[in-house]
Amino acid sequence: MSPSGLALDETIELARLVPPEELEELIDSLRRALGCDVAVFSLAGDRLAGAHAAGAARQPFVYEGERLGHIAAAGPHADAAAALACDALALVVHHAQARALGASTAEAAMRLSFAELTEHNERLQRAVARLEELDRLKSNFLATMSHELRTPLTSVIGYAEMMSEGLAGPVSSEQREYLGTILGKADQLLGLITSVLEVSSLESAPQVLDRASLSLADLVANEVATYAPQAGKRGITIELGTHGDSYVVGDRKKLRQVVSSLLSNAIKFTPDRGRVSVAVQLGALAPGDLDTTRAVQLVVIDSGIGISRDQVAKIFEPFFQVDSSSTRAFGGTGLGLTLAKAYVEAHGGRIWVDTAPGQGSTFHASFPHVERVEVTQRVEVASDASAAAQDGGGPR
Ligand SMILES: Nc1ncnc2c1ncn2[C@@H]1O[C@H](COP(=O)(O)OP(=O)(O)OP(=O)(O)O)[C@@H](O)[C@H]1O
Ligand SMILES: [Mg+2]
Repeated sequence: MSPSGLALDETIELARLVPPEELEELIDSLRRALGCDVAVFSLAGDRLAGAHAAGAARQPFVYEGERLGHIAAAGPHADAAAALACDALALVVHHAQARALGASTAEAAMRLSFAELTEHNERLQRAVARLEELDRLKSNFLATMSHELRTPLTSVIGYAEMMSEGLAGPVSSEQREYLGTILGKADQLLGLITSVLEVSSLESAPQVLDRASLSLADLVANEVATYAPQAGKRGITIELGTHGDSYVVGDRKKLRQVVSSLLSNAIKFTPDRGRVSVAVQLGALAPGDLDTTRAVQLVVIDSGIGISRDQVAKIFEPFFQVDSSSTRAFGGTGLGLTLAKAYVEAHGGRIWVDTAPGQGSTFHASFPHVERVEVTQRVEVASDASAAAQDGGGPR
């Protein structure tokens, strides 16, 4: 490369390479040190620095085999002064060249990394757009499919019920047993399809909540009564404790789903002859909240298999089940807690769990506590975040 760091076909100019003040400063210090005049000229003969040596003989200034200009010295020790000037000038040119090279390399590197960043950003934006599109398609697909599956299934259930009631003629006990199985499985399938439909509608449409003042304790007592026979068959006892006033404002159907999800999990994941305790009490709205009167809490404690620390964060995600091999053993789809969380948060509450493997689990669902008032209205809750904001800022 040429000394200036420029392309070979470009003219190398000393004046362009070294700033005039730097050149002037160099010549001035030589003049003071040696007591003689020195001047520097460009190849074209223009004086670049120095003054009084103008009339003296000029000798070429060569740097790395290339002629860059001329130097003239006058006075005592003029030859030594000229040689020194050449060396000093070579040093200055060397520094200037290094500076130019450094600057152009840094600029080139910056330009390159900027171009890379821009391209990377564009790729990311395209990927995000594609993911959003896929997510929308997935939600639409789930909603459409669930609807299409539900309609014929309702007919299957209806006709099986009519047959088992004898509306199509006498039914033998064996036929009644088979019809019972058909109805049981069809109900299970309907539950699954309904959950998928609800989860997909969480993502695609704002939730509509009824708001009525209701006693959480009464609602929980009803659900416990519903699950008691199923638990009883496996020797599991359900204890129920209600402490204090438990009025909340909410959507009865969705709240019942929250209670049912926590209760069914507690029974499902507890071994035979285990214990499940359910309490409705005043408590904190969020874990760590010091004010323990702001919320009505549903607490469901089981003596089941528990959940490891790294899995806890995921159990509220759609379709997640801690051990997929247990799916066959326990059944379920992995949607119960996703819906429960969405519904609790739409009411301005929080859901969380204290658990460890083999130690059982304690699920808490909190709802803002209200004095008993008659409220009946319907509200739209757009998303988790805006739901929390609408319902009074959510957990703090
Ligand atoms: N009380 C519990 N004890 C131990 N594990 C639990 C408990 N509750 C939930 N889990 C774990 O979290 C997973 C997700 O629970 P979730 O209720 O969402 O789904 P599911 O019960 O498997 O199916 P679904 O509720 O849709 O019928 C469960 O599969 C289980 O692995
Ligand atoms: Mg469940």
